Amino acid sequence: RRILLLNGVNLNLLGKREPEIYGHTTLIDIETCLATRAACHDIELICVQSNHEGQLVDAIQQHGLLTDISLQVDAIIINPAAFTHTSVAIRDALLATQKPFIEVHLSNVHTREPFRHHSYLSDVAMGVICGLGHLGYQMALDYWLINLYGIDL
Ligand code: DQA
Repeated sequence: RRILLLNGVNLNLLGKREPEIYGHTTLIDIETCLATRAACHDIELICVQSNHEGQLVDAIQQHGLLTDISLQVDAIIINPAAFTHTSVAIRDALLATQKPFIEVHLSNVHTREPFRHHSYLSDVAMGVICGLGHLGYQMALDYWLINLYGIDL
């Protein structure tokens, strides 16, 4: 039982980066909180952050398709950050794995600049959560706990 948590470009700066938009919680805080919650239910959370599109593609391929089936993740939670609005490659990698994924954004991208309104992932995501800050990640995890593993939260 495994879930992959992916965070894209500049999200290593969470807590320091435009806190009025992205909040004060750091990425380590988010990853630790989610990993602990998952572990309580005997689920391993694999956390990957990268500023490099290709490294995110590599992680998706590796954990979603290339590794032995018994080691593959069951689902993905991804905040691609700016790659949301640019990356056909991440979309294609996610589709290649055929693993269901939830797209998360800390900010409400629809109230921001027009270039943030389009996502290359949303139409193939299981769901999209945006504007709820770091709680959005927890909600995405809870969705998988309930709907993938039948856990009674
Ligand atoms: C973001 C929104 C993106 O538009 C932006 O480029 C980010 C973060 C969010 O979590 O709100 O880096 O994905």
